[in-house]
Amino acid sequence: MADDRPRKPNAPKRPKSKGKGRGARVSGRQLAARVKTARGRKVSSTRWLKRQLNDPYVAEAQRLGFRSRAAFKLIELDDRFGFLKPGRRVVDLGAAPGGWTQVAVERVNADAGRSGKQGRVIGIDLLEMDAIAGADLLQGDFLDDGAVDRLLAALDGRADVVLSDMAAPATGHTATDHLRIMGLLECAVDFAAEVLAPDGAFVGKVLKGGTENELLAALKRDFSSVRHAKPPASRDSSAESYVVATGFRGARKARKPGN
Ligand SMILES: C[S@@+](CC[C@H](N)C(=O)[O-])C[C@H]1O[C@@H](n2cnc3c(N)ncnc32)[C@H](O)[C@@H]1O
Repeated sequence: MADDRPRKPNAPKRPKSKGKGRGARVSGRQLAARVKTARGRKVSSTRWLKRQLNDPYVAEAQRLGFRSRAAFKLIELDDRFGFLKPGRRVVDLGAAPGGWTQVAVERVNADAGRSGKQGRVIGIDLLEMDAIAGADLLQGDFLDDGAVDRLLAALDGRADVVLSDMAAPATGHTATDHLRIMGLLECAVDFAAEVLAPDGAFVGKVLKGGTENELLAALKRDFSSVRHAKPPASRDSSAESYVVATGFRGARKARKPGN
């Protein structure tokens, strides 16, 4: 049977530019790939393609079998904060295409790939995802009660870790994009407070400026430690960073499907 698990991850080092302009050399790689601007291809698509071809995280993700370069963000966050441990039960919100899910499955041993405690990973996304051995994947809108009920039914108990890398498709209007992402984060924090077991952890994507005051106050009330981090795999040009809250105090009543 083919082994579809990603190989042992080894986060690539961020390249240092050794020159300026097109085709500048980056350490650890050959000459940067150039992309011809094809007729009919938008300048932004050409820029995206060029960035992908020259991104060491993209190359390493492909080499190791990760579905997204985002996998390295979770690896780097977990290496720093240590919230994924064998046996833990994880909910992954906004899971597609599945890089974080793959990392979580491996780190909590959800596929029983090694001896020791076996964990669980349940992912949800608006988009359909190909199966990942060891994970339960649901398709649905996390903002929809029906989808959350399905998620809670699959979880069937408390979670140890809630991850949210959810991001609504960018509109290009900064204020709107900011509001949408922060809205998703707020719902994810509420959900975490209802399903986490004592001492559980929450990791969520935030935008520049960090977590807004009210939300930060709620996190500080519910968790013993709240930190912001921008993992090296998160592009400098991206306004995203992550809030990592650990030591859930276990204050709220567990949420059940239909409640
Ligand atoms: C940055 S991607 C996640 C990447 C993922 N962590 C990985 O490692 O492959 C953000 C995801 O959030 C999902 N998303 C946005 N809004 C959502 C919602 N309301 N419910 C479920 N998923 C949502 C998007 O469909 C998208 O796949």
